Amino acid sequence: DTVRVLAISGSTRTASVNAAILRAAGELAGAEVKLELWDGLAAVEPFNEDDEAAPGAGVRAMREAMLAADALLFATPEYNSSLPGQLKNALDWASRPYQASALHGKTAAVIGASPSGYGAKFAQAELRKVLTACGADVVGDELCVAKAHTALGEDGLPVDEELRASLTALVMAVVAKVRG
Ligand code: FNR
Repeated sequence: DTVRVLAISGSTRTASVNAAILRAAGELAGAEVKLELWDGLAAVEPFNEDDEAAPGAGVRAMREAMLAADALLFATPEYNSSLPGQLKNALDWASRPYQASALHGKTAAVIGASPSGYGAKFAQAELRKVLTACGADVVGDELCVAKAHTALGEDGLPVDEELRASLTALVMAVVAKVRG
């Protein structure tokens, strides 16, 4: 069966490198993977416990998209040594109710890309920590895309053979976990 992967970029920027890397992951994945780039992050309402009984449309759409997916593949930029607040906000919503949340027991993998030489290393560590706290099953190695603005070629695929291999390996780790 096809493995359905919801790809979530932590950046809502139109020209986001993180979104571009997720698109590349979709290209590199075999026909066994159906990767959908999620575009609903900007629509997720600010978290408020008062709204938990009746979450907004943005939150409900996110939950549906996550529940329909076999796995989540994140690519996050780094803002001030952490993950973007907008992504954290979405994960706080997605984490509830804890035992029955869209994240609990869900296979997830994390990529980070930034123009710096560290490739969102700290943001990735934070994201892994948060996902693990939410009960997600985070698989695969750390994948830091440093100097990210030069990482992809005209064809949208990694210029560097090593990045191409590690991106493919990460998707394969997700597939292996989902297939058990
Ligand atoms: C950044 N950026 C950044 N990069 C980094 O490697 N470490 C950091 O701590 C920060 N801090 C930071 C704070 C804020 C408020 C902004 C807006 C940016 C740079 C950031 O990683 C860069 O803009 C990425 O290119 C964003 O990824 P997308 O949008 O191309 O996916």
